[in-house]
Amino acid sequence: MATCSRWQGVRANAFAGRHLILGVTGGIAAYKSCDLVRRLLEREASVQVVMTEAATRFVSPLTFSALSGRPAMVDPWGGVENQMPHIALSRESDGIIVAPASADFMSRIAMGQTQDLLSSLCLAREVPLWIAPAMNRQMWMHPATQANLTRLREHGVVVWGPASGEQACGEVGDGRMLEPHELVTHLESALEVLPHQDHLPLRGLLSGRRVVITAGPTLEALDPIRVITNRSSGRMGFELAAACVAAGASVRLIAGPVALRTPMGAERVDVETAADMHLAVMAAIADCSGRDLFWAVAAVADWRPQTVASEKIQKGAGPGLGQLVWEENPDILSAVGHLPAKARPYVIGFAAETGDLSQIGPKLETKFKRKGADLLVGNIGPEVAGQAAAEMVVFDGQTTTPMPHASKSEQACSLVLQVARRLRDREGSCP
Ligand SMILES: Cc1cc2nc3c(=O)[nH]c(=O)nc-3n(C[C@H](O)[C@H](O)[C@H](O)COP(=O)(O)O)c2cc1C
Repeated sequence: MATCSRWQGVRANAFAGRHLILGVTGGIAAYKSCDLVRRLLEREASVQVVMTEAATRFVSPLTFSALSGRPAMVDPWGGVENQMPHIALSRESDGIIVAPASADFMSRIAMGQTQDLLSSLCLAREVPLWIAPAMNRQMWMHPATQANLTRLREHGVVVWGPASGEQACGEVGDGRMLEPHELVTHLESALEVLPHQDHLPLRGLLSGRRVVITAGPTLEALDPIRVITNRSSGRMGFELAAACVAAGASVRLIAGPVALRTPMGAERVDVETAADMHLAVMAAIADCSGRDLFWAVAAVADWRPQTVASEKIQKGAGPGLGQLVWEENPDILSAVGHLPAKARPYVIGFAAETGDLSQIGPKLETKFKRKGADLLVGNIGPEVAGQAAAEMVVFDGQTTTPMPHASKSEQACSLVLQVARRLRDREGSCP
């Protein structure tokens, strides 16, 4: 089986789909947090920056807004949309990191004082709080700061750093904020063991089941240089893999060439062509039973050139690209859908369609019959590169249920909930 070596060995991404609050307090090190925002976004987390008034003296909120793609928040009284930001912000997040954390901020939260937005939301939180102190060495060593530190740790706050070295004031000692890359490493370890907010309702729903998921595009070679592929990003399949892992399933994710990190806990197999994907799926399905699930999310090429030219097909020489002879690729969804009942997992197919979502019913009905699926999910293409949200419908052979526009992570969770419910009804087990 050909593998896409570019993506092999890519580490699982603990940041993907995470929403973090980055608190910034008033210290010289605030400028380093601009880099921290960039690094977190690069790793596919979303970041809401909350600044203290003092922090805005060091870095403009505009800089953080531009970097994070969301307005940086300062005022606890501001915001028409969100009347209670001091509570709501942390409810929507996976965790709060405060970097730099000033001596005064540490004192405020150790004492339970809440006169600014950041301290209020740290007090009203249900999520982890990580802080990266930064201050002059004397401020750090002062018994008041050290007493606050002890108290914060007792309250469950996790403290990263500070480091020792030359300080902005010219003195040398303890009190330097950890570098952004060091904070990212700490965060990664913390997030690896932290359940996703979206995934909490899924716990245990698919325990003891195997799940095979295909994701992304396939890629068919015309000659050593050219390929035919499609616009699938693979994101939906990867979100589903993450949701199924969270639901307790053992997940094998068979991915075409995509630029996505492997969800934590999923076993990934990389393929290029539809034929390779077919082989990988049939090998994975061989271990499955009727209790297991197959999600056919990949956008598999229907056709491939009958022969792949060994040299680049030249313009104007011979028959050229216009005369290529095509042959049909295996229909993976149909192959699994028509397996004998004993060996056949519960089969969920995805169908990308163009046009109006309300009009795709008849197309889904035809596909449903042809493919032998248990459930068909229709979504509207063409895919916009990197698109993180989708509008979908679910068709079970009789009823079409619309799924409102939501992030792909939310859609994945909703689909896993729906499928778990259907499996439970089918198997007649107790709730
Ligand atoms: C130039 C300058 C640099 C400062 N650097 C720090 C610092 O690195 N760490 C710190 O704890 N306080 C520092 N302070 C003091 C804080 O800005 C001050 O205590 C402020 O009230 C903190 O407010 P906040 O915790 O709401 O952000 C600095 C003050 C100034 C004027």
